[in-house]
Amino acid sequence: SQYQIAVIVGSLRSDSLNRKLATAMAAMAPPDFTFTQSEIGDLPLYNQDDDAHQCAAVKRLKSEIAHSQGVLFVTPEYNRSIPGVLKNAIDHASRPYGQSAWAGKPVGVLGVSIGAIGTALAQQHLRNILANLDVPTMGQPEAFIHAIEGFFDADGKVNPGSEKFIQTWMDSYVAWVKKHTT
Ligand code: FNR
Repeated sequence: SQYQIAVIVGSLRSDSLNRKLATAMAAMAPPDFTFTQSEIGDLPLYNQDDDAHQCAAVKRLKSEIAHSQGVLFVTPEYNRSIPGVLKNAIDHASRPYGQSAWAGKPVGVLGVSIGAIGTALAQQHLRNILANLDVPTMGQPEAFIHAIEGFFDADGKVNPGSEKFIQTWMDSYVAWVKKHTT
């Protein structure tokens, strides 16, 4: 399709709610958009000594971002910030200096939590990081999703009321990506 979106999920857990949300969202995309999840669980811990010879997993992540028209972060909140695995992936793809994969990529940020504030603080931390990376991050609408019982049905589909809200978010994100794609 015309618009490729690299989806980065901030949780490695097999039953991750955020991965479920990312998967459900891919199915809600318009026909000219394809959402593909990027693997970050096999990246080594970032070490600046490796900048001159980045490993295959890092090159793969950077290439997936480079070949995308936008990036979608779907992340849990860990201790009022983003998970370390997500920061690790962001750091990897930002290097070597001057060869960041992130610059200019239109980004959307959202997350789901069993906690009432629905990843709000993690998302604010992520926005700080993305500002430094010269990324245009969509400001509104925000999506702080509180996953109560029944948020996902047995097939992983979002309940109809929440689906409507997420579809509205998706429509704005699609417009955001198009606006930043020349
Ligand atoms: C959490 N959780 C959590 N939730 C929250 O709303 N704010 C927080 O600061 C934290 N902190 C936190 C730290 C750590 C180390 C863990 C493992 C969990 C709970 C978290 O939202 C919940 O486990 C989600 O289900 C994690 O997302 P995934 O893995 O389901 O996508």
